[in-house]
Amino acid sequence: MTNPDTPTMRAIRQDTHGSPDVLKEVELPRPQPGLSEILIAVRAAGVNPTDWWNRAQPMTASGLPLILGWDVSGVVEAVGTGVTLFKPGDEVFGMLPYPHGVGSHAEYVTGPARAFVHKPAGIDHVQAGALPLAALTAYQALVDTADIQPGQRVFIHAAAGGVGHLAVQIAKSRGAYVIGTASAAKHDFLRSLGVDEAVDYHAVDFTEAVKDVDVVLDSVSLDTAARARSLAVLRPGGTLVSILPVPVDPDELAGMAERGIRYEVLLVEADRVGVRAIADLVEAGALRAHVAATFPLAEAAKAHALGETGRTTGKIVLTVEGTVKTQVAAQVLRTVFDGGDTTVVERHVRPDYIQHNPLAPDGPEAMKAFGAGMREQFPDATFDVLRVISEGDLVLLHSRGVLVPGTPGMAVFDIFRFQDGKIAEHWDILQEVPATTANGNDMFSTLSRPQVEVPGERWFTAYNKKLVTAFVDQLLVRKDLTAIDTYVGPEYHQHSPNFPDGVAGVKAGAGAYFAQFPQLRITPKRIIAEGDLVAVHSHYVETPGERGRAVIDLFRVRDGKIVEHWDAVQDVPETAANDNTMF
Ligand SMILES: NC(=O)c1ccc[n+]([C@@H]2O[C@H](COP(=O)([O-])OP(=O)(O)OC[C@H]3O[C@@H](n4cnc5c(N)ncnc54)[C@H](OP(=O)(O)O)[C@@H]3O)[C@@H](O)[C@H]2O)c1
Repeated sequence: MTNPDTPTMRAIRQDTHGSPDVLKEVELPRPQPGLSEILIAVRAAGVNPTDWWNRAQPMTASGLPLILGWDVSGVVEAVGTGVTLFKPGDEVFGMLPYPHGVGSHAEYVTGPARAFVHKPAGIDHVQAGALPLAALTAYQALVDTADIQPGQRVFIHAAAGGVGHLAVQIAKSRGAYVIGTASAAKHDFLRSLGVDEAVDYHAVDFTEAVKDVDVVLDSVSLDTAARARSLAVLRPGGTLVSILPVPVDPDELAGMAERGIRYEVLLVEADRVGVRAIADLVEAGALRAHVAATFPLAEAAKAHALGETGRTTGKIVLTVEGTVKTQVAAQVLRTVFDGGDTTVVERHVRPDYIQHNPLAPDGPEAMKAFGAGMREQFPDATFDVLRVISEGDLVLLHSRGVLVPGTPGMAVFDIFRFQDGKIAEHWDILQEVPATTANGNDMFSTLSRPQVEVPGERWFTAYNKKLVTAFVDQLLVRKDLTAIDTYVGPEYHQHSPNFPDGVAGVKAGAGAYFAQFPQLRITPKRIIAEGDLVAVHSHYVETPGERGRAVIDLFRVRDGKIVEHWDAVQDVPETAANDNTMF
């Protein structure tokens, strides 16, 4: 993590061309936005073939050292003089000018404000970061260049790839009849995108299977012989749009002209009108990136190596952890509990700060005093932040606090709400770690494989949040135990000390709890999701009239099932040092 007080950033830089291991994580000065530019805190950035080609040898992005990356989805951190479209805090996505605007594989990047649009609210940064370069290529080829019309026959090579799978959706959204090529194993995927005919280019000679095409989108033909095959499927007067800028022989062009064929070579451009159109398609539910794998920024080399296999279904995306809000939240927590520079609180906490911890009054001064009191009482306390998730204006941290060294300590969840870049509100839940647990697991560790290690598995924030929201509603609000069969995976790891492991454990535990408290009422207050983690902050009232308990349940979702659970439970006390509830 970079320190938010020093204007530096982590970036993936190469000082030489070569294999993926030339990509090194370095600490660099944070760039400043120039005239008409915005500075973006990158949250996610797609990886494209041009990234690994430019990494391996000098291509379009000249000069070393080099930071690759043209795709951007992130949060506007600052705006340069003259920018009227955005303000700090806006969530945006777009493509940096190709080729020289490159540099998004970093925590921060600057780019022309007018290359960006607001990120559609319905998709997360991983989705948005997957789209720009590949979707713009498809849009500029099929819509701007070929102007495809309803009913036209469109032939898309490599229809399961980054460009191809988006091109299919764009062509379908314009009413075209779409024929796509891919290996047979990817045909279900093609059909899920709306392809009318899927051709296995390994098993079938597509020039025999496909005829009378109006438009070919060609991302595979590197020479005359290969191009001749693409031309063979076109009807006279059709259009071939190649996205491979390779030389073409004049005789070949003359042959195309004789058949009335229009031949165009497209190089993708940063294009606000195009990104707006892409955002509109996303908002209309007509376009969605399939994210095959995500890697944290530091593992860019792994992302390149996977992409270079040339077998990707959809997109590979780098995610940027340690974003500004999560860094600030972790730093403020550490300052309060571990000791340190209390000016951090002044800098990052709003004067009208609202506190929901029952022991501390409102306001930043009270926060400082609370921290000082804690440190005086527990000078050797330690506080380890184990996982952080952020969504919108909320950041949740799951930590282990040990006030007296050698004791098991407490499981702690903190939620911070940010407003205009500063902490505006705080909720927390603390539970003492018991000496024994019903499952043999501790309250903190990770027992399932996190998503970042598993290329190819589905993990969309929005999807995972919807799944956990439905699970919580069915199991906890409506107390329907069949939710467990629907949503909980067979390898379910339990970290709540009271429930045994596995599906049977959660069924038995929840069943017994519901039987013990027939009037139990659980009210979810906020749900925060990022990647494969979804946290639910709820008020549990076991018997009517009681103050109840504050609970946070944290779930990990993988491939459509809940696979791990951590929690903390705290009784709501009779009185609070502030006028607020714990919720
Ligand atoms: N001109 C531009 O501005 C521009 C912009 C973007 C991309 N491009 C170029 O367009 C190409 C595709 O880019 P991308 O991002 O879509 O790449 P990608 O995601 O890496 O493409 C991978 C896909 O290609 C398929 N594939 C590989 N060889 C194939 C073949 N001979 N026939 C059919 N499918 C094949 C693979 O499917 P199977 O496993 O089934 O083979 C795989 O799903 C790259 O060469 C890239 O440099 C150019």
